[in-house]
Amino acid sequence: MSQATTKQLIKPLEAGIRGVYIPPGDKSISHRAVMIASLAKGISRIENFLPAEDCIHTIEAMQALGVSIRTGKTEVEVRGVGLNGLKPPKKEIDCGNSGTTLRLLAGILAGQPFETTLTGDASLTRRPMKRVVDPLTEMGATISGAEHGNFAPLTIQGGNLRGIYFNNKLSSAQVKSALMFAGLYAEGETVIHEPVLSRDHTERLFELFKADFEKDGNNVIVRPSKKLAGLDFRIPSDPSSAAFFIVAAIHSEDSFLTVKDVCLNPTRTGFLEVLKRMGAKIEVKVGESDYEPTGDIKCFTGFLRGTAISGKMIPRLIDELPILMVASAMASGDTVISGAKELRVKETDRIHAMCANLKALGVGVTEREDGCVIHGKAFIRGGTVPSFGDHRTAMSMAIAGLLSQEGVEIEDVDCVSTSYPGFFEDLTAFSS
Ligand code: S3P
Repeated sequence: MSQATTKQLIKPLEAGIRGVYIPPGDKSISHRAVMIASLAKGISRIENFLPAEDCIHTIEAMQALGVSIRTGKTEVEVRGVGLNGLKPPKKEIDCGNSGTTLRLLAGILAGQPFETTLTGDASLTRRPMKRVVDPLTEMGATISGAEHGNFAPLTIQGGNLRGIYFNNKLSSAQVKSALMFAGLYAEGETVIHEPVLSRDHTERLFELFKADFEKDGNNVIVRPSKKLAGLDFRIPSDPSSAAFFIVAAIHSEDSFLTVKDVCLNPTRTGFLEVLKRMGAKIEVKVGESDYEPTGDIKCFTGFLRGTAISGKMIPRLIDELPILMVASAMASGDTVISGAKELRVKETDRIHAMCANLKALGVGVTEREDGCVIHGKAFIRGGTVPSFGDHRTAMSMAIAGLLSQEGVEIEDVDCVSTSYPGFFEDLTAFSS
């Protein structure tokens, strides 16, 4: 395999996946780290930042708002301007393909006494924004965008916010985080209730930076913070990136893979529990906890059976569902995924993309509105499939290729750079 080009042919594995694998820095935490460090006063040095396109869009956005940020390979030095130090940008801010950049930034900008326009690529400008626009408007921001503010470009005039009570029914960490950032600027308390806990990285960073906030059962309560101070910290490796290699190892012969220094935040490790329930041999060792729990994952070759994935588990593995669909195709029996309608509004409609692609590779699949049934026969024939411009679909198809009989050619793979620029190089290192 060569450097990621537009098309990529992934041949079936000839030997097991063995060795020690250190995934790149966590994407969700990288975004938040740069945002909160920008709002803190003074220098923050961040290690193991993910230098992927999505996170670079966050850096460029904060630079456009007047923050000086220096980047090394995976080190970032942020000269935070303080909560009230952001400046109006000279032009609209392009968030590229990154929903996290756009939605979280909307929360920060709702608190600024100036107007900013946020936009993105063709995929991002088709993704629903009302989920952040409505509560931020209720807090006092003035936001306009196409179709009553549901689509970017969004123009946000911030300032004079007041706290609200918000029920986060979608279990969206992006919505929760947007409101938490806005809450730093609002009068009174901003209370976010979550029937099912979504990923809590913003809470953990708020705690690290000593923002005025608390957790009370299923509620997050944010009060306006007077001052945050810059600090140095490390971002753990990304479990969502690790998931691709873990599934490849489990389903190939004679595998023994150790994943090191990975984020083991329980709001992100649902996929490990599901794989174990399916019969996978996985050992998890949590190390010393910093602001995020981290540790090692060991996985071995195994034989998996189908399972059901639904309910409260979904937010804990939402980004791993595409690769879990590949794992299910290589299992025996049906895997039923339900309650995952949110997958239809990710970077692409991932239910449609994955069902269409797995079918094209010879897997039995029944598509449903809120999920699908994968009729696992421990078999993927192979073939040629599109990426639908979606990084996680492309990477899932690459793993399907390794596990297939005839190989998989993936069209339009450049999108993997949004979350994992070194993916094909890492895959080569472990599969040849
Ligand atoms: C993310 C939250 C999730 C996830 C996305 C990243 C985040 O989206 O799917 O890839 O960093 O907060 P939602 O919050 O919209 O569910």
